[in-house]
Amino acid sequence: MFELVDHRRKPLQNVRSELIIKGFAVMADKPLPAPVQDFVDRIRAYCAAGKQDEELWPAVADDLKMLLADPDLVEQSKTWPDTKKGDGPPSNLLFYEDPDYGFVLNALVKGPKSVTNVHDHGPSWTLYGVLDGGDHIQRFSRVDDNPTEEGPAELKSNGEFDVVPGYIDVVPPWEIHQEANGDHRTIGFIVRSQRSGTFKQYRYNTENGSIATYNGPTQIPYDL
Ligand SMILES: [Fe+2]
Repeated sequence: MFELVDHRRKPLQNVRSELIIKGFAVMADKPLPAPVQDFVDRIRAYCAAGKQDEELWPAVADDLKMLLADPDLVEQSKTWPDTKKGDGPPSNLLFYEDPDYGFVLNALVKGPKSVTNVHDHGPSWTLYGVLDGGDHIQRFSRVDDNPTEEGPAELKSNGEFDVVPGYIDVVPPWEIHQEANGDHRTIGFIVRSQRSGTFKQYRYNTENGSIATYNGPTQIPYDL
């Protein structure tokens, strides 16, 4: 298991370079680009002011919309490596993990014809912002009364829609969904309320209702 080293007493500008997960460094010494640091500072200010999840994440989504329009970020994202191919397992680039409030900045970079499992993000909140490409998203909810973690789960469709660059999908805890991106590459810039791997999330088999737990996408430390 990973163990976080607590550097909360350090000045903020030093936090990123000194945030270490035992076994390997999460972040290098490079500071975040100014627009991304501003974005992080805004989230931290909301958290410090005590904003609760239902208010916090929609507010962060508004700020993320501005960040997604940053031409330098869009340009840089074209060089990011694919972290999901076809129906293979997803990984995330990990750009930042907040030492005080636990939120993270990730990217999911999908090659053409990528399809996810039907899944949720467990107890975490997710802002999925499209930087490039696009996705077709289907949403589901459970209509059975079986145990949350065991099932069998019976799902009903809650609709489907296409997302394009600039769109932010706000994914609350336990919302069940599936994404497919078609013939093009798709880059999602993601804010999560906590790092994948620190909580359980679930995959749903729509054929037989079975549920499987997993730890979410593998996290790959990556400099912005
Ligand atoms: Fe997801």
